[in-house]
Amino acid sequence: MEYTVMLPAAGSGRRMGAGENKLFLPLAEKPILVRTLSVFQQDPDCAGIILAVRPDERDRIRGMLECHGITKITAMPDGGGERQDSVRACVRAFGAAGGADDAVVMVHDAARPFLSRRVIRELAETAAGHGAAIAAVPSKDTVKQVTDGVVEATPDRSTVWLVQTPQAFRAGLLAEAEEKAFADGFLGTDESMLVERLGHPVRVVESTYDNLKMTTKVDLAIGEALLKRQEE
Ligand code: C5P
Repeated sequence: MEYTVMLPAAGSGRRMGAGENKLFLPLAEKPILVRTLSVFQQDPDCAGIILAVRPDERDRIRGMLECHGITKITAMPDGGGERQDSVRACVRAFGAAGGADDAVVMVHDAARPFLSRRVIRELAETAAGHGAAIAAVPSKDTVKQVTDGVVEATPDRSTVWLVQTPQAFRAGLLAEAEEKAFADGFLGTDESMLVERLGHPVRVVESTYDNLKMTTKVDLAIGEALLKRQEE
C-alpha cells in the first residue's frame, strides 16, 4: 500500500542536552535523522517524504540529504514552535501539492530510527481501510494516574497501550483533525488525539518495543546497543 510519510524534524532536543538538534547526533556514526530517513528511502511503498525543518537548519539538512543519497523528499516546509505546528506544516504542504484526500499519509517522529517495515505495512493497510491506525505496544508495567504525588487511579493493565509513531491516516481525515485543533487552540501530544476529537475510531497496530524515541542520552546508548545486535 503506497503512502507518503511526514517527518517533523524541527525540534530543539532540549532533553538530550546536546546543545543542538538531537537529530544531528551520530548513532553508530550516522546521524539519527539519516537513519530514520533511510528506512523510508529504502521502502518501495513510500511514495514521498515531507520533512519539516527549522529554517536555520535547512542548508545543513540539505547537505546531509545529498551526502546520504536521500532523494524522496517532496517538500521541506518550515517547522513551528510545537511538534503539532510542524506536523500541520507537513499536512498543508501535502494539500498544497495536490495530495488526494483518500491517499494514505503517515506521521513519524524523525527521532525514532528503529521502526520495522512490517509495522509500516500494517499501518498503511489499516489506515486505507479504516481511516486511522497507530503503532503501539502493550504496557509491560502497571500504570498509575497520579496527582500531586498521590495515586488517583490504576487502569486495568490489559487495556493500557504505550503509543509510538508512525500514526497513519487517510489524508483528508488528518487534515480535518489538524485544522479543527488549530481553530480550537487544542494542543495534543500525538495526531491520534486530534482524530479522536472528531469522534473517528483509531485502530491500534501492535508494534515492537525497540521502536524507541531518541530523547535522552540513555536512549542513545540503548540505540547503539540495538544496532550492534542487528550487525551480529
Ligand atoms: O522532542 P520530541 O522527541 O518529543 O520530538 C518528537 C519529534 O518532533 C522530533 O523528531 C522533533 O524533531 C520533532 N519536533 C518538531 N517541531 C517541534 C518540536 C519537535 O518537528 N517544534
